Amino acid sequence: MNTSAKDRVGTNALLTMIGDWSAGGAGPLHRRLADAIRQAAETGVLPPGSILPAERGLARALIVSRSTVTAALNDLKAEGVLEARQGSGTRVVGPPPEGPPGATVLPGILSVPSRNEPGVIDLAASTPADARALPTVDVDLDSLLRAGPRHGYTPEGLPALRDAVAERLTLGGLPTGLDEVLITNGAQHGLALAFTTLSSADDPILVDEPTYPGMIDLLASRGLKAIGLPRRAGGIDVAALRSLVVEHRIRVAYLQTSVHNPTGMVADDWEFRALAKACDDLDLAVIEDMVLADLRYDGSEPAPIAARVRRANVLAIGSISKLGWGGLRIGWMRASSASMERLVRTRLTDDLGSSIPSQVIAAGVLANFDRVAAVRRSTLKERADLAQKTIANEIPEWSVHPPAGGLSLWVQLHRPVGEQLAQAATREGVSVATGVSASVDGGYADHIRLCFDRPEAQLIEGLRRLGVAWRSLKP
Ligand SMILES: Cc1ncc(COP(=O)(O)O)c(C=O)c1O
Repeated sequence: MNTSAKDRVGTNALLTMIGDWSAGGAGPLHRRLADAIRQAAETGVLPPGSILPAERGLARALIVSRSTVTAALNDLKAEGVLEARQGSGTRVVGPPPEGPPGATVLPGILSVPSRNEPGVIDLAASTPADARALPTVDVDLDSLLRAGPRHGYTPEGLPALRDAVAERLTLGGLPTGLDEVLITNGAQHGLALAFTTLSSADDPILVDEPTYPGMIDLLASRGLKAIGLPRRAGGIDVAALRSLVVEHRIRVAYLQTSVHNPTGMVADDWEFRALAKACDDLDLAVIEDMVLADLRYDGSEPAPIAARVRRANVLAIGSISKLGWGGLRIGWMRASSASMERLVRTRLTDDLGSSIPSQVIAAGVLANFDRVAAVRRSTLKERADLAQKTIANEIPEWSVHPPAGGLSLWVQLHRPVGEQLAQAATREGVSVATGVSASVDGGYADHIRLCFDRPEAQLIEGLRRLGVAWRSLKP
């Protein structure tokens, strides 16, 4: 079998693939490590033919002894999961997969530790800490009987909620009618529906790089290849988008046009205009992720590209999760009424519709939008400032790009040790998301993402523990 550089898995990429392997499981460390590598191989996350990093480097990155790594790899060789090849290292048994150009997609959110364990401070999940931002909404029997069809199945979503979403979009510069709104089970469901509708297995997808980790899992689960569009300091690099689309014959792009997860950056109005024109010129279908649009701190969100294109097909996607609460599992998709019939049929087959009580509460959030959004924006801005100040005191060697919105800080460590830091942090009782979990091709090993949407005392204590973890890493 021939070996090529692309079969070699970097240490950071492997750490991302096996995720939070040492926590929670039973048995000796080498068994837990073997279990995690076996699982990655069995699920295809670590494809056949992949060559593992050298044992010494792996042991250093995992913060375990070399004998632990050797024992784990020996077990897997005995089981026939791995094989040693003279001169080319240890590889996963089986032929390397073939596929279209683009990066093999690594796990994103699946590798983000987010354990609701007592004593562990979760700064990894980029989501409100709890349901406290929700306004008081009565969900009693009467309100459920009044809400919609009595049997409770609404594949398109409750008309009152669709109407409220349409009104919000219209106020934000995207004229929208009720027939153009589909209620989904969170934006993640909307993204999945969008891929079902727009892409086929052989299409490489253009994706923001870095990106929202849940997008990475979605691409991986469908075997789709990603072409990363590196984020510019200001926002979206439209010139790079044009050349990548032509070079790789890309038909579909996933882009966060509003506040960007994980960097917290925003684009200027002229970039929106240039992007919309490029999508028209290239006939590029776009999945426009507007999930964080309501959480730009200054409230000055430009109209989305869905409002600016002339003929490109744009599916815009949003959510109540960040404004209100992720536990509602309510999002929305805005599409042309012509595409709606197919979308509704697909979602009907998937799940028959979204929860009515959740939709009633989501409609309550939108009925109180101005108040809820104002409180969320000012609280988030305060917490972002607090997190930056605390980091400057605790870990002055890091750099943080001040976010213009959203719930997270994108932190540059200036050393490619994000994975090691995340592992050490778990041991100190705080979880963080690695930069690698937000990268379509295993980059950003020198970054982590920290969610600051947490009660003040928890945030400060989490960052203190993170400082301890950082100082425990060998230089
Ligand atoms: C950019 C982005 N898109 C989509 C989602 C998914 O959101 P939901 O909870 O509505 O599924 C998230 C959640 O973190 C996100 O940050």
